[in-house]
Amino acid sequence: MMLNDWHKPVMCVEAIDCLRLKPGLTVVDATIGTAGHASKILEAIAPSGRLIGIDRDADSLAIAEENLKRYKNNVTLVHSDFRNIDKVLDSLNIGQVDGILFDLGVSSYQLDTKERGFSFRYDAPLDMRMDKTSYIAAYDLVNNLTEKEISDILWSFGQERWHKPIAKHLVRERLGVPVSTTAQLRDIVLKAIPRKFGRSRIHPATRTFQALRIAVNRELEALEEALSKVPRFLKKGGVISVISFHSLEDRIVKHNFKDLGQEGIYQVITKKPITPEEGEVADNPRARSGKLRAARRR
Ligand SMILES: C[S@@+](CC[C@H](N)C(=O)[O-])C[C@H]1O[C@@H](n2cnc3c(N)ncnc32)[C@H](O)[C@@H]1O
Repeated sequence: MMLNDWHKPVMCVEAIDCLRLKPGLTVVDATIGTAGHASKILEAIAPSGRLIGIDRDADSLAIAEENLKRYKNNVTLVHSDFRNIDKVLDSLNIGQVDGILFDLGVSSYQLDTKERGFSFRYDAPLDMRMDKTSYIAAYDLVNNLTEKEISDILWSFGQERWHKPIAKHLVRERLGVPVSTTAQLRDIVLKAIPRKFGRSRIHPATRTFQALRIAVNRELEALEEALSKVPRFLKKGGVISVISFHSLEDRIVKHNFKDLGQEGIYQVITKKPITPEEGEVADNPRARSGKLRAARRR
């Protein structure tokens, strides 16, 4: 049991199997979070291996550091966006590594820390920045973008079918006072969606919150940029594993692997994405939408 057991790592066994770890390897965990996957990686590569852990959330990195105390000589933690993976590895004088893991999106730690503003379950300032030093928060998007821009974000990043009425309501509501809390936004969504459609399996505000989070953190751009840089840093035979949580991310990973496969750069290991076992989903509902894809550097 870890000291700060905030987040259950999704498909940990499967992701680590794909990486084919053994003592002495050098691995990058590009989304170290609170170090769930990382501690398993370290178990496998210790005592002589090295782990570079990247995250753009400084609070998560502090927890990761605490959780990985016993491996402190094997770990380097870096506060950065993974889109800068080239700068991170160059600055550490690391040429090539044996494995790279991406476990995308937000962690349970981030979702459940009320004041981060990621969740409609708590009333908190509308923030949603993974990196608290970045400038644009959800508040800024919601209060400054045009109705059309908001509607486009909800559709493109949330596939929210009610994107137009939600954007319309939002722009009307913000005329009086700015929309500054997660509860205000959640209530706007609830008012905008016709009642009979608001009772599906997932909460009606889920897609709106997902879309804004992706826009605030420019998640898809970061993923595309990072994936395009990875081949330079993987040794021949080295493996990249990516766990994604929605179709927009999965599509980017799938196409990247397919394209680089056709160019002879990767051999795709997962013909179809690996999904979590029923038992894992029962134990950790967040794993439900997880998809794991892996490719080996040729
Ligand atoms: C699903 S969590 C990872 C959890 C981790 N694997 C564990 O087991 O604890 C995703 C993490 O990736 C980080 N993240 C997301 N996008 C990022 C990016 N572009 N650059 C760096 N970190 C990012 C988030 O801040 C979050 O901590």
